[in-house]
Amino acid sequence: MRILVLNGPNLNLLGVREPEIYGRRDYAALERFIREAAAELDAEVEIFQSNHEGVLVDRIQAALGAFDGIVMNPAAYTHTSVALLDALKAVALPAVEVHLSDPDSREAFRHVSYVRAACLKTVSGLGFESYRQALRFLAAYLRGEREA
Ligand code: DQA
Repeated sequence: MRILVLNGPNLNLLGVREPEIYGRRDYAALERFIREAAAELDAEVEIFQSNHEGVLVDRIQAALGAFDGIVMNPAAYTHTSVALLDALKAVALPAVEVHLSDPDSREAFRHVSYVRAACLKTVSGLGFESYRQALRFLAAYLRGEREA
């Protein structure tokens, strides 16, 4: 089972960026956390971060035939990007939306998620743990298990 984990803009600044919201652990720590969570599930994982919308579109397109599913934190593009929504719809791979914080309980402009319409589930508000829950759900889904 091969899962692509995509992280959007400013997540490379974890630890520095608004630590009261996103925590004090850095992006390298998030990558380690994701690799450990994937290993627990016997899933292969590739992790990629970009600050550029088109680069993320390219990675989603390239996932077709190479990955079984996608876990994505589109970060700010969550709330703006029809292009990411269309890319997810185009490849039609099972996808899970993930957020460290809970955008639904923050500013009103964060309450809209364009990508959500192309995702099986959204996991948010659990910090790094959101990624573990998203990977667990996706792995169970890909294995054909009912309960995730
Ligand atoms: C985020 C939430 C978004 O609203 C924000 O723009 C981010 C990070 C999160 O993980 O909590 O950059 O996706």
